[in-house]
Amino acid sequence: MSAPRITGHAKLAGVIGHPVEHSLSPVLHNYWLARHGIDGAYVPLPVVPGSFTTAVRGLQASGFRGANVTIPHKEAAFALADEVETQARIAGSVNTLVFRDDGTIHGSSTDGFGYLASLEAESVSLESLSVRGPALLLGAGGAARSIATSLMEKGMSVIFANRTNERATTLANELAQTWCAHMQSPAPALSTLDWDAWESSLGSMSLLVNTTSLGMQGGPAPEWTPDLSHAAETLVVSDIVYVPRETQLLRCAAARGLKAVGGLGMLLHQARPGFQAWFGAETEVDDATVAHILAVLKNR
Ligand code: ATR
Repeated sequence: MSAPRITGHAKLAGVIGHPVEHSLSPVLHNYWLARHGIDGAYVPLPVVPGSFTTAVRGLQASGFRGANVTIPHKEAAFALADEVETQARIAGSVNTLVFRDDGTIHGSSTDGFGYLASLEAESVSLESLSVRGPALLLGAGGAARSIATSLMEKGMSVIFANRTNERATTLANELAQTWCAHMQSPAPALSTLDWDAWESSLGSMSLLVNTTSLGMQGGPAPEWTPDLSHAAETLVVSDIVYVPRETQLLRCAAARGLKAVGGLGMLLHQARPGFQAWFGAETEVDDATVAHILAVLKNR
């Protein structure tokens, strides 16, 4: 692959976060830039809480085309954007900013897109899932919110189960409200299940999504091994954890012959809309992209 080209006309973007040094986005975007032979660069932008607006205005003044936004600035990005896409409005957070020539900022949330694209890449059909039953989402944080929103847009009913049940109830209520405020159609069914009850409920679910940090290397319970014995044989099991690439959850699913989808795809696909907006080229998550990112992860 040719060396990156960065001239005085380079197209610039980056990722704003705190901390930001662990973000894989610079590796991914610069890999795609080099592959496409684009004159551009994507940099990590460490911005402390409280300095987000100053930083964004500075980037705009410096000719940047936009930025990804990660923890803890996603809500601030939502508040700052002049125009926010419907899905990001429902999800309540923004992870992609595009600076327009007229000085306005467009905000979107691409996590849900990334999740759906990762299912599609594994030949999972949302249409057939929604006919078979609801999606069960484990967790009630920002990732659960974004994924639930994108599943709802595809007409799927969503059930949340979270260790702290109150958070799940609050999330379901908030999503129902924001859906009604922003969409013309009635919200698909949203409900909650007790954390202790989710494993025994799997027989009626079409999709299981782990959005918690359970199973993550360095997380609260890396060896977390759920009981999938009640699952219907058509259940699709997905995990947004991507380190390790094959979590215990995915291993249990594979052992039962269930379709299992890992979290790396979501991470890679969510980057595509930003890349296209800032650098003007459609890119894809192919085997070479996955291999490149896996090699980087291995050396961390
Ligand atoms: P994000 O916004 O990235 O989705 P988060 O807000 O940190 O993440 O949420 C992490 C999720 O993992 C939460 O749903 C959390 O459950 P609580 O709301 O009860 O805290 C869940 N989680 C973390 N550790 C857990 C554990 N040991 N057992 C069960 N759930 C856990």
